[in-house]
Amino acid sequence: MKFFIDTADVDEIRGLAPSGFLDGVTTNPSLVSQTGRDFREVLEEICGLVSGPVSAEVTATDPAGMLAEAETLAAVADNIVIKVPLTWDGLAACRQLADRGIGVNVTLCFSAAQALLAAKAGASFVSPFVGRLDDIGQSGMELIADIRTIYDNYPALATEILVASIRHPMHVVEAARLGAEVCTIPPAVLKRLAGHPLTDKGLEAFLADWSKTGQSILEG
Ligand code: G3P
Repeated sequence: MKFFIDTADVDEIRGLAPSGFLDGVTTNPSLVSQTGRDFREVLEEICGLVSGPVSAEVTATDPAGMLAEAETLAAVADNIVIKVPLTWDGLAACRQLADRGIGVNVTLCFSAAQALLAAKAGASFVSPFVGRLDDIGQSGMELIADIRTIYDNYPALATEILVASIRHPMHVVEAARLGAEVCTIPPAVLKRLAGHPLTDKGLEAFLADWSKTGQSILEG
């Protein structure tokens, strides 16, 4: 499974890059707004830090406007993937961008029917928002399972499932169990994946016992 980081905070990305876990980055207008910075400048910096796909979202809602914005965003770096909303017009833009060889991430997906359309429109990625479905009492992971089944029924569909709106480590674990290709993870959740209280407790005990030996590994 690939891990993308879901943030437009360049400092966060710079800090996490040495971990080797960053296979890509996703941004959206809300995340860019939180930075208070120029979008294209932020994208340039992110693409300088990460060689994998970096999703940049259009804000026009008509196909012509989306295509014009996509052209500007795609010019920032070779690894930019254009994010379009899962609307009728977004799907039309997706088809045209895909036909031009530009990678597209179709975002704001909340149903299996939408995911099927995204794949037929040539999307490189579809982004189902699991947390937001859970928020309204629907199962985000049931949607991932449905999309997995549908895509597996038609191997010619090349779209990767990019699980988004991840809120906690179990979203990542469940997405991996279901075979989603990508999770885009907020920085705080990525760090929480490594944590377990028994790890902390066990390490504390090991170090306490080690100190009783009076030894140092480096000094023999
Ligand atoms: O990638 C989409 C994601 O950022 C949405 O997350 O937590 O705002 O639902 P959230």
